[in-house]
Amino acid sequence: MSAVDVGIGLLGYGTVGSSVHRLLVESGDEIERATGHRLRVVKALIRDKRKERPFPAGDGVLTGDFAELRDDPRITVVAEVMGGLDPAGGYVRELLRAGKPVVSANKQLVAREGSELFAIASEAGVQLRFEASVCAAIPVVKVLRESLVVSNVHRVLGIVNGTTNFILSRMEAGGSYADALAEAQALGYAEVYPNDDVTGADAAAKMAILATVAFGSRVGLGDVECRGITELEPAHVSAAAELGMAVKLVGIATLADGAVDVRVQPAFVDRAHALATVDGAFNAVMLQGDSIREITLEGPGAGGIETASAVVADLVSVVGTAGTGFLQNDACWRELPRLDRGAWRSPFYLHLEVADRPGVLAHVTSRLAANEISVAQLVQHLREGEATLDLILHEAHAGDVHEAAAQMATFPEVLRRPFLAPVITERPL
Ligand SMILES: NC(=O)c1ccc[n+]([C@@H]2O[C@H](COP(=O)([O-])OP(=O)(O)OC[C@H]3O[C@@H](n4cnc5c(N)ncnc54)[C@H](OP(=O)(O)O)[C@@H]3O)[C@@H](O)[C@H]2O)c1
Repeated sequence: MSAVDVGIGLLGYGTVGSSVHRLLVESGDEIERATGHRLRVVKALIRDKRKERPFPAGDGVLTGDFAELRDDPRITVVAEVMGGLDPAGGYVRELLRAGKPVVSANKQLVAREGSELFAIASEAGVQLRFEASVCAAIPVVKVLRESLVVSNVHRVLGIVNGTTNFILSRMEAGGSYADALAEAQALGYAEVYPNDDVTGADAAAKMAILATVAFGSRVGLGDVECRGITELEPAHVSAAAELGMAVKLVGIATLADGAVDVRVQPAFVDRAHALATVDGAFNAVMLQGDSIREITLEGPGAGGIETASAVVADLVSVVGTAGTGFLQNDACWRELPRLDRGAWRSPFYLHLEVADRPGVLAHVTSRLAANEISVAQLVQHLREGEATLDLILHEAHAGDVHEAAAQMATFPEVLRRPFLAPVITERPL
């Protein structure tokens, strides 16, 4: 069979864009063997033509003019690998309206504007794919959308931000938050301004996308309850170790009683749980569903060539399935209500710093009991008239646990704001 050339346009030729080109050139024979097509980059949009590129683009490929790319008749599919909402969102809209399928690595764009973009794609009858927008090299969108179509996935647990996972792994080895962040920056895992990572905003966008695909219902960024790792202290990390757990920034999407709950927060993960061993800059997603029980996907969650592998896979899928129907549609087919935030259930970890006085423990446990919360485990440390209490609480409603902690914060013997985190374990608690 002779190969058919497919012209590719790239919006962006930076870390990911140049790696997409590299893969298409260096793995061109494999792609051709598998698909019968030779994918060639025809145009790539950039800002600065004088910049040195990690992989040469070739003569006449780089352009600073979007219209030149949009109107090039040789281009049949476009990869958006430039990032940001504006102008990337406008360009994607124009391309879809012009009947060009788009694949995007841009989580903020997909999470914030996915609904409108999919409506345009459906109207134009072209595909919009977004595998690389979540967990880079891990093919989780494809698995959810295609492989698990009948599995009724009802829970997604994810470590979806490599920067914070690296920082937490370092803190577990004894470092402070500031030292761990500085090391992540020096190694290139964290940006100079890592705000989106440490506040959980990056993970929230990815969890909104994963929940949308998993539950077939649009979940917006505003639906995700989000807490980052900035308030974590070495004391919490060492308490986790003492309790046989690891602290991880975990995204949890739950479909319970027909309602959706999505949250990103530091969680205490049991050492025996698959997510506890995900170390450094790696990502992992655990999918739980009716007919699959549990599937865990783990791999690099960032990096130029890793992200490019997912972009190229999407390009190959678009070429291989063009005009075949169902993948043209938005993955959302139903509207689901949101679970009341306080109704979400989990075991919890509670950290208290209290005055070392008689009756404090009784006061704390009676407050918990009044909110129908019981204690599964307690570790106490004393030092110079103060005590730290690390408690594992049996499964309870999040609303009751937060209310009890807020009440304890007003006790005169509670010296600092209590710290709460959900516990993730396979053990019954
Ligand atoms: N890097 C990763 O590990 C990773 C992982 C997962 C997802 N992603 C996503 O992939 C996308 C690209 O990331 P990246 O790391 O490759 O970014 P990058 O290295 O900064 O590259 C961005 C590219 O887009 C071009 N560009 C940006 N704004 C433009 C504008 N207004 N007009 C024309 N060209 C413009 C830049 O041109 P110049 O080169 O001329 O400046 C550059 O070539 C982002 O959405 C990111 O979130 C990245």
